[in-house]
Amino acid sequence: MILMTGTAGKTGRAVIRALLAQGEVIRALVYRPVDGLNVQETIVGDMRSPTILNQAMQGVRAVYFIAPNMSPDEFEMGRLAITAARSAGVEQFVYHSVLHPQIEAMPHHWQKLRIEEKLLESGLPFTILQPAAYMQNIMAHWSRIVDQGIYPIPYAAATRLSLVDLQDVAAAAATVLNQPAHYGATYELAGTNPLAQTDVAQILSQVLKRQVQVKVMSLDAWKRDADAAGLGRYQIDTLVSMFRYYDRFGFAANPNVLSWLLGRPPTTFDEFIQRVVQEQSQ
Ligand SMILES: NC(=O)c1ccc[n+]([C@@H]2O[C@H](COP(=O)([O-])OP(=O)(O)OC[C@H]3O[C@@H](n4cnc5c(N)ncnc54)[C@H](OP(=O)(O)O)[C@@H]3O)[C@@H](O)[C@H]2O)c1
Repeated sequence: MILMTGTAGKTGRAVIRALLAQGEVIRALVYRPVDGLNVQETIVGDMRSPTILNQAMQGVRAVYFIAPNMSPDEFEMGRLAITAARSAGVEQFVYHSVLHPQIEAMPHHWQKLRIEEKLLESGLPFTILQPAAYMQNIMAHWSRIVDQGIYPIPYAAATRLSLVDLQDVAAAAATVLNQPAHYGATYELAGTNPLAQTDVAQILSQVLKRQVQVKVMSLDAWKRDADAAGLGRYQIDTLVSMFRYYDRFGFAANPNVLSWLLGRPPTTFDEFIQRVVQEQSQ
């Protein structure tokens, strides 16, 4: 049995689908009761609780640890999960980290780096996955892209970012959970070489067969929208740090490692958008 945390989010659901397809038995730790996960066991509880984590780890072969997106408590959750996994004698701890966790200017990356450090020191057989930004993040702007031809971003149009299809990340997660050969490994998971945001808009235009243009919004305008949408202070500040970093340095990686893990080239951004269009037409 595999324990998964952070299960009800978009990452958790994608990894669950990939694991179930390969016949794994899953225990899901969820924050609150949730329908439609289709896993064999569910435990409801808070990842900040050592009692809940100890209970969740009992009898599992491996743990796939996903922390909530941009939580001020991420490091503490990771530290507690590693401690609980050690005392339960878990055979493999897979940590869903992030590409380039060593960037101190981005607090959520820095917290992940410190969890990685705890994992290295734990003595547990570990695998660390470091995904790039998901292609799926663009879905937050999908209706504006399709209806108005506007791709809104709070950094320069020339910013170059590597992206990855979350389905490829989930396939890689299922692979590393299936084979001891991946113990002790840290893998960067990028699906593309860095793409300028103008390239992204061009691919959107080609696949959607309509003109899509980058619209650069100011950070103040972005913050006002995020506030109005009810995003918390920590999340807003963290995302602003991330956007400033992207604007200054971009966020580049290389798809070689993911190609090797998948045994095929990763999904391109073009293919991802074609798949979205096809799914929406069904
Ligand atoms: N988005 C990207 O491009 C990207 C790229 C690389 C890495 N990542 C990383 O991937 C991870 C997952 O991201 P995501 O967007 O899928 O996460 P998410 O949507 O925030 O989901 C995380 C889940 O954790 C649950 N949760 C929150 N607080 C909890 C607590 N105290 N105890 C137990 N469960 C709790 C949430 O439950 P509720 O829904 O009930 O609140 C949610 O279901 C993050 O660490 C993120 O940094 C993301």
